[in-house]
Amino acid sequence: MTEESNTLWHGRFDGGPAAALEKYTYSIGYDERLAADDIAGSRVHVRGLGRVGLLTDPEVDQILAALDTVEAEFASGSFVLLPADEDIHTAVERRCTELAPAAAKMHTGRSRNDQIGTDIRLWLKRELGTIAAQLVDMQQVLFDRAVTAGDAYLPGYTHFQRAQPVPLAHHLLAHAWTFGRDITRILAARDASDVSVLGAGALAGSSLPLDPDTNATELGFSRRFENSLDAVSDRDFIADAVYALTMIGIHLSRIGEEWVLWSSGEMGFVVLDDGYATGSSMMPQKKNPDIAELARGKAGRIIGNLTGLLATLKSLPLTYNRDLQEDKEPLFDSLDQISAGLEAIGGMIATATFNTGAMADAADDPLAGATDLAEYLVRSGVAFRDAHAVVGTLVREALSTGLSLIDLTRDHDQLGPEAAALLQPGRAVHNRITPGGAGLVPLQDQLARFEAHLAANRATVESL
Ligand code: ARG
Repeated sequence: MTEESNTLWHGRFDGGPAAALEKYTYSIGYDERLAADDIAGSRVHVRGLGRVGLLTDPEVDQILAALDTVEAEFASGSFVLLPADEDIHTAVERRCTELAPAAAKMHTGRSRNDQIGTDIRLWLKRELGTIAAQLVDMQQVLFDRAVTAGDAYLPGYTHFQRAQPVPLAHHLLAHAWTFGRDITRILAARDASDVSVLGAGALAGSSLPLDPDTNATELGFSRRFENSLDAVSDRDFIADAVYALTMIGIHLSRIGEEWVLWSSGEMGFVVLDDGYATGSSMMPQKKNPDIAELARGKAGRIIGNLTGLLATLKSLPLTYNRDLQEDKEPLFDSLDQISAGLEAIGGMIATATFNTGAMADAADDPLAGATDLAEYLVRSGVAFRDAHAVVGTLVREALSTGLSLIDLTRDHDQLGPEAAALLQPGRAVHNRITPGGAGLVPLQDQLARFEAHLAANRATVESL
């Protein structure tokens, strides 16, 4: 048992909390990272109490000075947690009261319910801005590599079977555009968190003349809560954030899977930089793509964080329930993992060496030009279904006889040398002309459009 006088509710209780309760319910182990935001919220609240005369000017000054000290202690790592510090709010208030007795008044008109909402919204707004900036950096890496990829091409796949050759730049930009949608989702989640809930109290507001609008302005939120019950029970913004982070995790896992394959001896499309690969403890020849594998693997727990959070929120009655404390660990874990993943995968992509020869060799199978051949026939007036059948028959002949599709095409009366030329190595990516398509001509336009998209994203992120 801890000293009963240490709890925030000791007046109402006969004894102190059981050790088992402390162990099971205390959140200080992970909400300590909200310290700076908790202190920021407390400063605004204390000034608000001063404005309406609930604290004298000297009391306000004393408490603000104590908050400065506590902030410095957290920043330098010298803050000493006590066993009774249940959560970050308790710890900050306890220490402030030691430093300035007037701090016994700082919780006036406030509850930990509106306090935790304030803390996590402040924290999340900032952290999601950082994730958005990391996504822009990732887009930059992919764009830079796309620009330097030039005319390089590789097989495009469907069903993981070689389908049609595509420019390497087009492939890299596919991932880059994907991260653009992640930026949209992250910014939407950031906007959902941009609501001040300070002043909602435990659930009902206060009989004291507090001013949530000024709180919102001073905390840099764009708006305040409209309904106190909703304010203290809303965790939608956390679900939005965890979902947006999950989608990034899924996208990183897709790149991870791709790069595991690309770096394999079988495909050999990419050689990882030594700084972004690992060796084997036993097999001296090994060079392993651990970052790519972990991007694949960590998506599992990130999806788990989202489903766990949603399950926690399900069926909760209004308003605050202690269940809501379970929102933080999945959020923190997803954010930490995604931030580290973006950095690691971005570095892996930026430093790798593409083996464009191996890519071209894999793409240069004349069979991969079969669609272009069918479209050649379409241009001369053949119905596409018939063209498909003509080329399909030629492909079957090539496979069963071992003759080359190029030779068979050249000798075919409906096709001929002009059609056969379409199957020459490297030709396919010149054939495609449709906007947004995998051809070197539309690629130039796509690169320009992406550059504008990237510049707009960068400006948005810098304005946050
Ligand atoms: N640690 C709590 C949480 O994260 C803070 C709010 C506690 N409120 C309460 N009434 N027990 O949700």
